[in-house]
Amino acid sequence: MEALKKAIQERGNVLSDHVLKVDSFLNHQVDVELMAAIGTEFAKRFADEQITKVLTIESSGIAPSFMAAHYLESPLIFARKKKSLTMNDHVYVSQVYSFTKQETNDITVSKDFLQAGDRVLIIDDFLANGQAAKGLIEIVEQAGASVSGVGIVIEKSFQNGRKLLEEQGYRIESLARIAALSDGQVRFIEDRLTTTSTN
Ligand code: G4P
Repeated sequence: MEALKKAIQERGNVLSDHVLKVDSFLNHQVDVELMAAIGTEFAKRFADEQITKVLTIESSGIAPSFMAAHYLESPLIFARKKKSLTMNDHVYVSQVYSFTKQETNDITVSKDFLQAGDRVLIIDDFLANGQAAKGLIEIVEQAGASVSGVGIVIEKSFQNGRKLLEEQGYRIESLARIAALSDGQVRFIEDRLTTTSTN
């Protein structure tokens, strides 16, 4: 997605060979126009999937998935990392291990909002090692619902996340795929070729 790649190039900061800072438009200050374009793109890519719920994880997944849910005309659910005051034990729980932080956290979703029969699109801001997506998939499975796909804003293709999810047969759509971060530069994997129809 060109507008996203442009934002990454012009407004992102390469902090190291494996960390990209995007807090000026994605995960601290949010570029709302760009989020609308991202939401439109996800909705287009998953238009044929009869999505009934969009599922993400707080906090940085919320902005892009909110717009995707809007254009897919679906509710958005975000998994919580801390149980809310009003949450009881009527919840699905899974564990997410963060390689970055080297800690495991429970994530929870109320059973009220995800049921068998739901066709779920999982969305997140980053795909690194795939642990957040894996935890969200486990929650969908606990509900007896199905995962229609995984939508990622920025995939770090040099980490293992895509491989992990593809091995389990999931469809992954990443709007920007980063081949490498080095010498302060971002190198993208070239987008797949798309064919255009004239009718
Ligand atoms: P994984 O879920 O794919 O296994 O990723 P990992 O454990 O490596 O990432 C943990 C957190 O770090 C996630 O956010 C993820 O979005 C974020 N992250 C991973 N790589 C990058 C990167 O290159 N740049 C930035 N800015 N973030 C990255 P989180 O801790 O859940 O935070 P938040 O969603 O509450 O903001």
